[in-house]
Amino acid sequence: MKEVKLETTLTVYEDIHELPKDIQQLMEKSVEARKKAYAPYSNFHVGTAILLENGEIVTGSNQENASYPSGLCAERTAIYYAGAQYPNVKILRMALTAASQNQVTKKPIPPCGACRQAIAEYETKQDQPIEIYFMGAEGKVVKSYSLANLLPLIFESSVL
Ligand code: THU
Repeated sequence: MKEVKLETTLTVYEDIHELPKDIQQLMEKSVEARKKAYAPYSNFHVGTAILLENGEIVTGSNQENASYPSGLCAERTAIYYAGAQYPNVKILRMALTAASQNQVTKKPIPPCGACRQAIAEYETKQDQPIEIYFMGAEGKVVKSYSLANLLPLIFESSVL
């Protein structure tokens, strides 16, 4: 028997202004997308902007439903749209932002577990890391060099 330690590496920026200009712009697109969230039940608005290798930017926001589990997170709304519209174009990076309507969201909000699994599928498919930048409504921004850094012990198709 042995113990295995898992480590991950993230970069933390003090705020959006510390980001390179192009990443700042992608984050601003994600803020725009966040404003289109349909979240009457949670009052938690999430936006995602995805930069593709062909220069296209695809955005998405969370879409809730009176039948709660039928709703979908911003990340999956955006990445499934990218997969549907640009099936053969690689995803370079994603910017995520979340804002509660009940309080100021200062904590960087990472993608939920289900979204990490969905993003992992595309990272495996394209065999190239997808950078993830995430933040709240203000304050620190966290960068993950790849989805894999956010999801240790990834489940992917090679085992099927
Ligand atoms: N949500 C996202 O859009 N992305 C996440 O990664 C976490 C949660 C949404 C789902 C739901 O509409 C609301 O935030 C509260 O959970």
